[in-house]
Amino acid sequence: MSFTPIIDAQGFAAFPAPAKLNLFLHITGRRADGYHLLESIFQLIDAHDTIWLRVRQDGQVIHHNPIENVPAESDLTVRAARLLQGHTQQQLGVDIRVEKRLPMGGGMGGGSSDAATVLLALNRLWSLNLSRQALMTLGLQLGADVPFFIFGRNALVEGIGEIMTPIETPVAHFVVLHPPVHVPTPAIFGDPELTRDTPSLKVALLEGRADQVELKNDLEPVAVRKFPQIAECIQWLSQYAPAKMTGSGSCVFAQFIADGAEKNASQNRANAVISCLPKEMTGFVSSTLSQHQLLD
Ligand code: C5P
Repeated sequence: MSFTPIIDAQGFAAFPAPAKLNLFLHITGRRADGYHLLESIFQLIDAHDTIWLRVRQDGQVIHHNPIENVPAESDLTVRAARLLQGHTQQQLGVDIRVEKRLPMGGGMGGGSSDAATVLLALNRLWSLNLSRQALMTLGLQLGADVPFFIFGRNALVEGIGEIMTPIETPVAHFVVLHPPVHVPTPAIFGDPELTRDTPSLKVALLEGRADQVELKNDLEPVAVRKFPQIAECIQWLSQYAPAKMTGSGSCVFAQFIADGAEKNASQNRANAVISCLPKEMTGFVSSTLSQHQLLD
């Protein structure tokens, strides 16, 4: 069954842009251009922004609610639409409205997912028929996390974010906490104290010693040092389950895996934890997605 968007009274169609969590994130090297090589499991979750799009006949790309202090021109959704227009010599344009729910600077890939959703949705709305691989290659120009959201399935991600191996991940519920800080990704990746050459999990697997590799987020020590609020959230959540940062932060999560026998147990457990959240912290519960809804 193919995904059918809701259309509002002004003719805008709604497309979901899901978030991701990095179940672990290892830095295995660094490229000559400064980008870091990763090994990471990217997990889609059902928390999402909604991108509203309406085709324009005049070729213009117009953002109707740009984020305060961010010029529409530099918004990733506008850049994605323009990039696709240029690449395909498309004469049609688009009106864009973004219903933002995902934290910005939160390590959940919100901005990248918004851009990926624009590429996936316009590929349909402009009847371009570009392959997923072509969209992923284009998306990489917008950011290292964009190809994953176009790939649209849970994956072991390598390279700087462009090499995907699809993987099955267990059905789970997550408690996600959002410390009140905006983490600038380049400052975390650029920190001199960043661990830059964690042993490869893939190599360890091949050599039969995967159990010696700890599944951690290599960006966490640097982010925690710069932003103590992240440490506070990890500490609070760790009372209930192992807690980890996602991406370059700031969000922190704990995973509750669904047990086949007790279907609702993981959701109940996650809901119980979030109900204890002190009032000075913010967070929510979200569950695994097996794939991006636009792939349906
Ligand atoms: O590609 P994106 O714009 O999301 O990356 C933001 C910054 O994060 C880059 O400019 C780079 O400093 C850093 N980065 C990195 N290695 C990655 C992804 C991001 O060094 N794989």
